[in-house]
Amino acid sequence: MGGKRIVVAVDGPAGSGKSSVSREAARRLGLRYIDSGAIYRAVTHFLLGRFGSLEKGRSYAAFLDGLEIAQRFDPEGRVHTSVNGDDVSSAIRDELIARNIGTVSDDPGIRNFVNGLLRSWSGRESLIMDGRDIGTVVFPDAAVKIFLDASAEVRSLRRVAEYREMGKTVDVNEIRNQIIRRDQEDTERPFGRLAKAEGSFYIDTSSMDKEEVIKRIIELIAEAGAPGLMDGRQG
Ligand code: DC
Repeated sequence: MGGKRIVVAVDGPAGSGKSSVSREAARRLGLRYIDSGAIYRAVTHFLLGRFGSLEKGRSYAAFLDGLEIAQRFDPEGRVHTSVNGDDVSSAIRDELIARNIGTVSDDPGIRNFVNGLLRSWSGRESLIMDGRDIGTVVFPDAAVKIFLDASAEVRSLRRVAEYREMGKTVDVNEIRNQIIRRDQEDTERPFGRLAKAEGSFYIDTSSMDKEEVIKRIIELIAEAGAPGLMDGRQG
């Protein structure tokens, strides 16, 4: 693909659908997609492997020596994350990771490490990256910044539907409480908290379906006028 390299930053709360729409927009445009949340999950996986359990409030930033994280986006639109060569893509979705990730993502030293890694991947190709602080901290100069949102109620119902599709039985109230707790963690984190970046496009997806959101994102990228970008696949 010719043209200049651009970064598209997509931030938003848990359950806003950012990873599934960003992935699909990237696949259609022939761009790379990076899931920054998976990197925090991979660091948590590495530290749990080393320490067995993590103490809330303790900093683990001094223990990242020997940690190599890689992420690959395949042509089918799937993300593969590895830690020191081992594919951890499924392992990082475990509940144990979710319970410990706050200790890791609140740690400024770990955030610096992750941000350095994320930035090191940007020089080579155009990409869409999603997370909580991509447009505010990691790439404040991103060519396109998007903040995806939806009401807590809608996000809870989407999560419940996802679990049901996987054949899991879940309690709607419990999922809603988890979403509310994660919103609180994400917006109150001392560093890299979730916030709408200056100059970002706010999209409330509460009454939009996935396809509408994908099309809107592709439109915004096209409007940003990145030359050469639209020669990618769009089907
Ligand atoms: O997107 P996700 O739910 O997989 O992210 C996992 C956790 O990582 C989430 O609790 C918030 C944190 N995170 C972060 O602090 N900054 C990011 N850019 C991405 C995720």
